[in-house]
Amino acid sequence: MIPAISRRETGGAPKKYLVTGGAGFIGSCFVLGAVSRGTATLTLDKLCYSGNLLNLLSLKDNPLHRFERGDIGDFSFILSLLEDFRPDALINFAAESHVDRSILAPEDFVRTNVLGTHSLLAAVLAWWKKLPAGAAEKFRFLHVSTDEVFGSLRAGEPAFTESTPYAPNSPYSASKAASDHFARAYHATYGLPVLITNCSNNYGPRQFPEKLIPLVIARAMRRESLPLYGNGENIRDWLHVEDHCAAIKLVLNRGTPGETYNVGGQAERRNIDVVRTVCSALDELRPHPDGPYAGLIRFVADRAGHDFRYAVNSAKIERELGWKRKFGFEQGLRETVLWYLENPDWLAAVQSGAYRDWIRKNYPDPEAVS
Ligand code: NAD
Ligand code: TYD
Repeated sequence: MIPAISRRETGGAPKKYLVTGGAGFIGSCFVLGAVSRGTATLTLDKLCYSGNLLNLLSLKDNPLHRFERGDIGDFSFILSLLEDFRPDALINFAAESHVDRSILAPEDFVRTNVLGTHSLLAAVLAWWKKLPAGAAEKFRFLHVSTDEVFGSLRAGEPAFTESTPYAPNSPYSASKAASDHFARAYHATYGLPVLITNCSNNYGPRQFPEKLIPLVIARAMRRESLPLYGNGENIRDWLHVEDHCAAIKLVLNRGTPGETYNVGGQAERRNIDVVRTVCSALDELRPHPDGPYAGLIRFVADRAGHDFRYAVNSAKIERELGWKRKFGFEQGLRETVLWYLENPDWLAAVQSGAYRDWIRKNYPDPEAVS
């Protein structure tokens, strides 16, 4: 069934986006897509370790794009940007995004994901309240969240739906859950037109090589060991970043304020199988004389509080907004491996001294990971 197109959509999709966290992995994919469709976009990013202006290099001289370095927690700076740029929608990708880092430094996650998101909501509300009625009604605040807020599933349990109770287990997912609750509360209490998306694990080009897939690709390219936590049996649902960004665009144009939308990739895989698939792609695309890449796999100490399984039911966004994923996992992963092979300069640029410090801190066993 083709979903009905809303009056809002026929009245015109948003013309101007303010994208927070737009220099990161998912945000930059969204910004590149929006600008290519002719949407004027202001990217605000603090340029933390995972934020990278190289991701937006192709927009350097594009008059439709503007970049500002700043913190979502800086109320007056955000307010001044809103007053100056007057966006039709704000999409919030800005966050501390890595579970392992949240285990070592949870306070950073409280600062950005909880306090920062709240400050951003407060600044947007202060500005939005002064908009003329028509503009206020059309404005959208889309908060990008994660399936991890729902906690961990056992084998065979049904996938998360929008009504699954929140049960976060890591400092990361707890901080994202808190930010979702504030976003929801700003709609319920003040009427701010908030939408929330909860998606599964993303993969694709330009992901910072601390997350499983790019970490394994980067290490395999250097013939370093490939660390699998525990027994490698944990399961994640993998969503291509472009399918995710297409979902966000639909939610902006057709979603109902106050609603949340789950977005999954229908690709539940065990970590060991994900890593083996990366290895097979590398064996095909860049065979190594020392033998198959899978020989580099090492089982290392498990992550504390490691969620066993995530799975996302996307029936609502498919039924109500007409979203459908385009990427099959194995083909999408092969293309992702190819992107990293073809972009060694990007990879070299992000693997700075700070990156090497992180690897030493998170993988302290020199036997397991070189
Ligand atoms: P990322 O770490 O690549 O990007 C985050 C961006 O936010 C970076 O550019 C960083 O510099 C910026 N940032 C951090 N703190 C900031 C602050 N205080 N002010 C302004 N900018 C700040 O992460 P990502 O994978 O692109 O994730 C984007 C969003 O999607 C996050 O909210 C994350 O929780 C969510 N998400 C990610 C995944 C995934 O698999 N990557 C899955 C579900 C949800
Ligand atoms: P990650 O990419 O960190 O995403 P998340 O924790 O948000 O799901 O990890 C994906 C899965 O891979 C998760 O089960 C942890 C596991 N993992 C490893 O086995 N080894 C690693 O070095 C990393 C970074 C993750």
